[in-house]
Amino acid sequence: MEIRCSTTAPLDANVDLLAIPLTGNGDLPEAATDLDANLGGSLTRALERSYLSATKASSHRVSGGESGPREVLLVSLGTRPADEAERLRVAGATAASTARSLKASSVAVLAPADDSGTAAAALVEGFVLGLYRYHPYRSSTGEEAVPPAEEASSDTPPALTILGDPERLDHGIQAAATVADATNWARDLANTPGNDMTPELLAAEARELAAAHEHLSLRVIDRAGLEELGAGLLLAVGQGSAHEPRMLVLEWNPPGATEADDERLALVGKAVTFDTGGISIKPSAGMAAMRLDKAGGCAVLGGMRAIAELGIERRVLAIVPAAENMPGARAFKPGDVFTGLSGTTVEITNTDAEGRLILADAIAYARELGCARIVELSTLTGATAFFFGPEYAACIAHEGDLQDAVLSAARQTGDQAWPLPMDEAYRPAIKSDIADLVNSGPRIAGALYAGLFLQQFAKDTPFVHLDIAGSGMLDKPRRYHRDPGASGWGVRLLARLAASQD
Ligand code: BES
Ligand code: MN
Ligand code: ZN
Repeated sequence: MEIRCSTTAPLDANVDLLAIPLTGNGDLPEAATDLDANLGGSLTRALERSYLSATKASSHRVSGGESGPREVLLVSLGTRPADEAERLRVAGATAASTARSLKASSVAVLAPADDSGTAAAALVEGFVLGLYRYHPYRSSTGEEAVPPAEEASSDTPPALTILGDPERLDHGIQAAATVADATNWARDLANTPGNDMTPELLAAEARELAAAHEHLSLRVIDRAGLEELGAGLLLAVGQGSAHEPRMLVLEWNPPGATEADDERLALVGKAVTFDTGGISIKPSAGMAAMRLDKAGGCAVLGGMRAIAELGIERRVLAIVPAAENMPGARAFKPGDVFTGLSGTTVEITNTDAEGRLILADAIAYARELGCARIVELSTLTGATAFFFGPEYAACIAHEGDLQDAVLSAARQTGDQAWPLPMDEAYRPAIKSDIADLVNSGPRIAGALYAGLFLQQFAKDTPFVHLDIAGSGMLDKPRRYHRDPGASGWGVRLLARLAASQD
């Protein structure tokens, strides 16, 4: 989304809606005093009458005057959460949803006076993420399933202007918009139903992405190619589906970067385009949500888009294994044994533990192509969703620099993550009597067995597993994510991580 930055005074902002975030002590910003005077003091009056809560995020709308903004929205940030950037993102989303309900075609947001750039960036990010809706399948003909207001607002986003000093703010604003757009794109991919986002259709999206960016290249490995590679685990998961599996390999090779292949950062993301559970079939209640089981892979694609558009001067490798997990005459079965790309053999004890299988081949392939560290994202276990809900991803890794870098990026971006142990003590339960490993360990501590399973394929390459089963798929609105569905968790984190790697 295109966003401008301008030193226009609030009183002169010729927009449908002007939002004024009340940062600091919650007073009306100095820059808005002229506007307030022009409105007969109605802004200060609203604050005096406590129309806004100081502790809870809230907003209050005042009509504008003859000239200047048509409507003015005062936005209180409240005191929770403690992270101010997160409260600013919520404030940005509040401006977005008000703009939407007013059908505003132009919006201005006043940047805090003392802003060095981070506040404006957070406001923009919240605005763009907060505008996001997913309803491409609602028809506008026939019986009105859609309230007219919703329908009318679905298309063009309002033009957004940040009122502040472009020299200080513009760079951060543009970067925030780029990353938020990439996040919304990842949400679109993940939200798309399984029938319209098969492994091959996901590959087509990645192809379009690569074609749009110089120095970003894509290789799609089809079934024959996977057989040649010996990617028996990805093939096993995909063999029950009419839609054959694919391995997407993206490489970002910017001109200035000097790393050798084996010095690269590698990103890996699970893209199970639909997870029925396979022969170990899932209960039908809630199964529809498993169209989101590709959220990790979509976050990796979104992360690569952000990295390319930000022009990050480091080489990055991304691998997205994509498959549909179906039962059927050709499906893999409990008791089967398959050999993965690395030569490791796996006894299938539950076909619903499919994510770790396709990821095992992807991680092994990342090592084969060369990389110095691997960060992997997946909607891997119900255990993580059960434990953390939507707020945190589980970060399962050995302690070390990579884990520190991931957790720090998590804290900075709002893609929250919290560490869980990667401990060899859990290893005996994933050993097989007849093969090297079983794919499904005990139910209790399920997230940790999954993490340990993946660690085996990363070997001595620093490895971080992010289980986004809770954080990546929302069943109700959260903060600046208005609709349930894919949250885009991880795109912001990956962009930050790639930018900050030493
Ligand atoms: N995609 C699911 C994990 C999942 C479940 C994500 C619920 C979000 C919400 C994954 O493939 C799966 O089915 N995992 C199993 C593993 C088990 C069989 C060891 C699980 O967590 O139940
Ligand atoms: Mn599953
Ligand atoms: Zn799954």
